[in-house]
Amino acid sequence: MHFQWFPGHMTKAIRVMQEELKLIDLVIELADARIPLSSRNPEIDTLARDKIRILILNKRDMADSAETDRWIKKYEEQGYYTLAINARQRNELKAVTGMIRKAGEEKRLRDAARGIKNRPVRAMIVGIPNVGKSTFINSFAGRNSAKTGNRPGVTKGKQWIRLNSGKNGSAIDLLDTPGILWPKFEDQTVGLHLAWIGSIKDELIVHSDLALDLIEFLQMEHAGILEEHYGFVPEKDSVRVLEQLASARGCLSRGGEPDLEKAAFILLDDFRNARLGSITIEPA
Ligand code: G4P
Repeated sequence: MHFQWFPGHMTKAIRVMQEELKLIDLVIELADARIPLSSRNPEIDTLARDKIRILILNKRDMADSAETDRWIKKYEEQGYYTLAINARQRNELKAVTGMIRKAGEEKRLRDAARGIKNRPVRAMIVGIPNVGKSTFINSFAGRNSAKTGNRPGVTKGKQWIRLNSGKNGSAIDLLDTPGILWPKFEDQTVGLHLAWIGSIKDELIVHSDLALDLIEFLQMEHAGILEEHYGFVPEKDSVRVLEQLASARGCLSRGGEPDLEKAAFILLDDFRNARLGSITIEPA
């Protein structure tokens, strides 16, 4: 299978991002805690060179928590304010507000040193598709529902969510539409990992190929998980395992042969919904 992102999309994405970032002090990047490498586009480091950076590992409920802790440490060492959340849980957003404030304080001090006072810190969510940007913004807008409307000097139609002012009176405005980054298919592993978690359009995918690779990964890194979940002892050969799964789940084609596409779909669906457990694909 070959994964790619069309260059036309990329140029446009870069242009849009560059425009949007002009308005922004603080870039809040969302990544997927199961694939903290492949769900990021390192290009953002160049695009957001002068900005303060927060990196959120989202969908932490679907990842291995010890591994997530290691990733947080690693990214903190690289200079990001980092935390892990489940964006579907509104009560987890308090921690994000706290971190945004902390990062915003850095900006406030920078401004103060240049004699600028009480200017709100403007923040924006960015990330590749499907990392949870909309979910995050919706949860956030729910908690901090005061929308501030259009402002002079701000692109028409942009809406900001104002976070309550901190003790020092400085406010933080979050742009309510996320910036969309494109995945970086530097090597095929990136595409493979994105496809495993369901972040690549299904029409581009041959499910059985994807599932065979996933079976190999699971057999190598999480021995026992297939037996535990599906109740059969998997054989060594991954095609055979897919056939075993097909018969365990009654996936037969018209001629009575095992329907491998169907079995693959079941495996992928279980994996993508963390029914096989909270598994981090990319270790720190
Ligand atoms: P995007 O804007 O970055 O493209 O992502 P979006 O918010 O649309 O989220 C993509 C999917 O991920 C959604 O599921 C969303 O509910 C889910 N999601 C977001 N954050 C989390 C999280 O922290 N944990 C878990 N487990 N899931 C999360 P969906 O199946 O596409 O839609 P639905 O189930 O919400 O209807």
